[in-house]
Amino acid sequence: MPTTKFLSTRIQEIRPSGIRKIFDLACQFPDGLDLSIGNPDFDVPEPIKNEAIFQIKNGFNQYVSTRGIDDLRQVIIKHLESRKVNFEDILITSGTTGALYLAMLAIISPGDEILMADPYFVAYANVIIMCGGIPKIINTYPDFKLREDAILSQITSKTKAILINNPGNPTGFVYSTEELKLVAEIADKHGLHVVSDEVYDKFVYVNEPFVSMGNITTDAVVMSGFSKSTGMTGWRLGYVSGTKEMIDAMATFQQYSYVCANSVTQKAAVLAFDVDMSEYVKKYKARRDFVYSALKDQFNIIKPEGAFYIFPEAPGGDAEAFINKAIEHKVFIIPGNVFSERNTHFRISYAVNDEKLQKAVDVLKKISN
Ligand SMILES: Cc1ncc(COP(=O)(O)O)c(C=O)c1O
Repeated sequence: MPTTKFLSTRIQEIRPSGIRKIFDLACQFPDGLDLSIGNPDFDVPEPIKNEAIFQIKNGFNQYVSTRGIDDLRQVIIKHLESRKVNFEDILITSGTTGALYLAMLAIISPGDEILMADPYFVAYANVIIMCGGIPKIINTYPDFKLREDAILSQITSKTKAILINNPGNPTGFVYSTEELKLVAEIADKHGLHVVSDEVYDKFVYVNEPFVSMGNITTDAVVMSGFSKSTGMTGWRLGYVSGTKEMIDAMATFQQYSYVCANSVTQKAAVLAFDVDMSEYVKKYKARRDFVYSALKDQFNIIKPEGAFYIFPEAPGGDAEAFINKAIEHKVFIIPGNVFSERNTHFRISYAVNDEKLQKAVDVLKKISN
């Protein structure tokens, strides 16, 4: 009899992604209306694609520096400086998710607690657990704002960092400067790191310029990437800025995990900040306006100000029942408990074409009664 071979206890604590579950179901119904996944519905701009093809043919296919190729580093540094983000160093990573994982590895010792606003991006709790930490939630319902009492009540001697996502997935919420300052002040007072995931920083629909956590503090870990801004979710490219100490630690972990971010996509992404994506952002803003106007009379909704999601409350606060009803009509949306302790809301990704969006919204309105 072979002896039993156990997997780590860690794997038992990880929840499979509830987004993937609905997305996989949606894939079985090609005629369905899939509003489940956060894939931008535009392709990588032609000059960037051509550059990637050129670089592959030109033989730029080897390992590159763990910290990222110099030309891309310079472009990102210029970009961050133009937005007056405070940082001492940057690291180019395998997507924003790569940056998140490396940041958590650098911050968490076993048993440390990381605070994150609830609702939260689906990866957060799992990445924290993968790194040996304990996710703790900051309640932001019903308006998704960060409040002092909600943060303070969760801080213990084990708390190590506050992780925020701005603009937020699944809410589309954009934090005010006051909320960011509140987080920074609490973090300073309690000796906590602040980590800000700003992967949707290009998709902001308010008039004022987007305020990064890196505009507020001098030592935040701020991450973003090219997945959403340039439509290259499959190319796996992101970047993170922070103090020298933090970036050095993350680079060490990168050396022994991802090794380096993809060489070809780094070369191609050098062009990304020069490509004008404003037409896409305008289109997403128009879709945000459309979905919000169409649903606001029948659903309790906070108007999103960024990203490409909207997070209405399900009728009767029962997301499970509502999602099942939607699936019967081949509309695929994500139940709130994928992103939250609660299952009262549902997420719509409006990164789909207008016709699909119109049909899906009609179904959701019809089944809401
Ligand atoms: C909040 C948030 N962070 C990170 C990611 C993943 O970004 P990347 O593709 O750059 O790893 C997503 C993707 O949906 C997201 O919503």
